Amino acid sequence: MALQSLRGTADLLPDELTRWSALEQTARRLAGLYGYRELRTPLIEDAALFLRSVGETTDIVQKEMFRFQDRGGQEIALRPEGTAPVVRAYLQHHLDKIQGVAKLFYAGPMFRAERPQAGRFRQFHQYGAEAIGSASPWMDVEIITLCLDVLRACGVTRTTLWLMSMGCRKDQERSAAQLRERLAPLRAKLCRECQARFDKNVFRTLDCKNPRCHELAWGAMPNGQSPFVLCEECRAHVDTVRLGLRGAGIAFDDTRTFARGLDYYTRTVFEVRAEGLGAQDAVAAGGRYDHLVEEFGGPSVGAVGFAAGVERVLMAQQAAGTALPAPGRGGVYLAVTRAPLVAEGFHFVDALRKAGVPAAMDLDGKSFKAQLREADKSGYRFLAILGEDEVTQRAMTVKDLEQGSQDLVSFDTFVATMAGRLKAAA
Ligand code: HAM
Repeated sequence: MALQSLRGTADLLPDELTRWSALEQTARRLAGLYGYRELRTPLIEDAALFLRSVGETTDIVQKEMFRFQDRGGQEIALRPEGTAPVVRAYLQHHLDKIQGVAKLFYAGPMFRAERPQAGRFRQFHQYGAEAIGSASPWMDVEIITLCLDVLRACGVTRTTLWLMSMGCRKDQERSAAQLRERLAPLRAKLCRECQARFDKNVFRTLDCKNPRCHELAWGAMPNGQSPFVLCEECRAHVDTVRLGLRGAGIAFDDTRTFARGLDYYTRTVFEVRAEGLGAQDAVAAGGRYDHLVEEFGGPSVGAVGFAAGVERVLMAQQAAGTALPAPGRGGVYLAVTRAPLVAEGFHFVDALRKAGVPAAMDLDGKSFKAQLREADKSGYRFLAILGEDEVTQRAMTVKDLEQGSQDLVSFDTFVATMAGRLKAAA
């Protein structure tokens, strides 16, 4: 059998990539409007970066991280997410000293060795934004607004925003103690992993992929009560977020409690779920991580961000029937009636390209008919024909493949005329 791409990874073929790039461009443009500047971090990082942020007891770190030792014995990880690398870069390059609040945008591949299924991949792509250096609940509102603006601009409007607060670290300690107490009589019924992480990180039972643990953990709280107990300030914080969202006309559902599978969160967390995606319906998610910068050795500053899954947003676009239309015809295909005319044709194609006009021709001596087929199939707008008659007349026969019209264009004005016609058609 021919070699295949690995399970859970995908080739992005040109048609797909057109939709893909349009999405990333939209995200980049809107992030720019909000004052977020793009940065790129490496695909590989010291594995310790994720152990210390995403958390040692999380599924991502325990089971899903692609890890290897380099020749020097250093533990390397393919990045499973973007927040920890962005915070590392922020500190490494002293962005905290340059700007009050660093507002950063990123897009790129992430890697998690999950069991592949619809909407869940081993190499997937995210775009996201992080606002580092602000504790304001209004920054949570800004991040959520940006997240939803991008989705809306991409035609993904049938979404539900889940919002809740996990409280500050102190609240989390109290909440964990309470959950541990309620779950203690059921501990023996939890999976082996949950039993092992029960003392260290009982919240992980809430997002265990084993449905039984999930049920027991959520069922341990009376009357569906949230396991997260909030102090006065945390309550005020999330109230302001609610107020801000309402003011921005953003509907949200704050009646559900859900678990985020990463340890760095404090206070606000949210997920955006889209219709028509089946089980993996979270298209974007994020929240506040007010201790991560300090835990990485930086100042004690608040931070909040989100990341969206590109594959899932594209699936939601398709499900909503709002995928961007395939681009219209463009450029010029030059066909020659005889092989020796390739030299002359090449000169014109080169001149077109230098003038910024997409242009192509066959260089392999294909039949005239095959060249015409190629021009049509590849989506060219104009077909320019160069044959003996054209050479004699010093004018190219030009067919508009969309309108069906045809005329003669002098060699001298050919490049400028084609550039002008394509500009007018755009
Ligand atoms: P996350 O919830 O792990 O959060 O991922 C964010 C989004 O990435 C998900 O909602 C989903 O759309 C997509 N995603 C995650 N895993 C996969 C997968 N295996 N296949 C396809 N898509 C996937 C984070 O990564 C946080 N860094 C978000 C954040 C930013 N929090 C604060 N700032």
